Amino acid sequence: MSDARFEPASGLRGELRAPPDKSISHRAALLGGFGTRTTRISRYLDSADTRSTLGAVEALGARVDILAAEQGGLEVEIAGFGLRGAAEPSGPIDVGNAGTLIRLIVGLLAGQEGRRFTLDGDESIRRRPMGRVTRPLTRMGAKILATDEDHAPLIVGGQQLQAAEHRLTVASAQVKSCLLLAGLLATDGPTTVREPAETRDHTERMLRAAGARVSVARESGVPTDPAPGVIAVEPVDELELPDLSVPGDPSSAAFHIVAGLITGGSDVRVRGVGLNPTRIGLLGILNRMGANIEISEDSHEAGEAVGSVRARSGSLRGARVVPAEVALTIDELPLVGLLGCFAEGETVVTGAEELRHKESDRIAGVVDALRAMGGEAEALEDGFVVTGRGGLRGGTIDSRGDHRLAMLGAVAGLASREGVVIEGFDAAGVSYPGFETDLRSLVG
Ligand code: S3P
Repeated sequence: MSDARFEPASGLRGELRAPPDKSISHRAALLGGFGTRTTRISRYLDSADTRSTLGAVEALGARVDILAAEQGGLEVEIAGFGLRGAAEPSGPIDVGNAGTLIRLIVGLLAGQEGRRFTLDGDESIRRRPMGRVTRPLTRMGAKILATDEDHAPLIVGGQQLQAAEHRLTVASAQVKSCLLLAGLLATDGPTTVREPAETRDHTERMLRAAGARVSVARESGVPTDPAPGVIAVEPVDELELPDLSVPGDPSSAAFHIVAGLITGGSDVRVRGVGLNPTRIGLLGILNRMGANIEISEDSHEAGEAVGSVRARSGSLRGARVVPAEVALTIDELPLVGLLGCFAEGETVVTGAEELRHKESDRIAGVVDALRAMGGEAEALEDGFVVTGRGGLRGGTIDSRGDHRLAMLGAVAGLASREGVVIEGFDAAGVSYPGFETDLRSLVG
């Protein structure tokens, strides 16, 4: 575990390219591995989490060739073993810290008839709830043994799965994706997933590109925007994922954008940012806070809109995050708390109980960190309230081994009056190993 210190900066200037998207990288490796063709993925995220996914598909029989590595992105070729062709590995599959990997892959492994797999990961993975995927999979005929019925390690005995209709009680793209992937392997008709609020739709987009039939019906007349919906997937024989280039990660870009907004004298631009509408809840919240941002959409990669975001420092006002925005901003909510310290008035996040089940309890983590840096923050069961007091003094915070808290501390340090030390800063490498270099490149 290593610490890092970030001193106050007098302004951030310049531009950089967002690192490749973590969610899309995981999905590309999985659909490539369980596909039949050889897929070339450009700008595959080079991070601990997404390396775990390459390791997992390799352990199951895919050929994974890393052809080049540059600027946080890998050029990877994956020769898949086919949708029903995973080989039984010699030992447990190690998912490391990657919740997306374990929750998505278990849906695919549950349908590998006659083979047995063990999925395990680090301390944080062993604490995270898995019943949310294993219980609905069991309704499809899956045989999965979980520790205390809810935790990894998971022991999966592959079965022929049956289609099912699922109604999710939590809005989770990981759970939705798991069940859609299992639905590909079912015998009898479409599998449907009703989500209580819209969540990121990268799986749906990529499945369609790989030849699967996926349809979405939004419920009309529901007084939330975006409305909940029902996603249906048909079983398929094979997946054929075309070559793709991974767009930049809006959740990683968010750290530089927020750094630009709260560090006086800043003007930064992040290029190549994925602008999928199911990922950019933060931008709407920033608009309500009166943030000085400019967004320009300029291209498409892997079926996703991509563009650049310019952020300039200025005054901010507190905002209330509405429940329908929560899933669309889930990984950026800690940054909303940080912004609240620099805004006038109160910033309130509710309906976000899910934050307690991330890599760490992010409600406790954010509130403790903001207070340790001189902020005024109060935890709620399902969110937090932050009262702006003209910025942050600085201090020492604990990353709790959580990459997003580590990066939040760095941004806070630049914008603070006295600087911030982050204990366990190396956690940032889980999603963004080049983060420190990129952030410091903006400091004049
Ligand atoms: C992810 C979905 C979100 C998010 C996570 C990545 C994904 O989790 O927090 O970082 O790639 O599907 P939930 O779906 O559990 O909310």
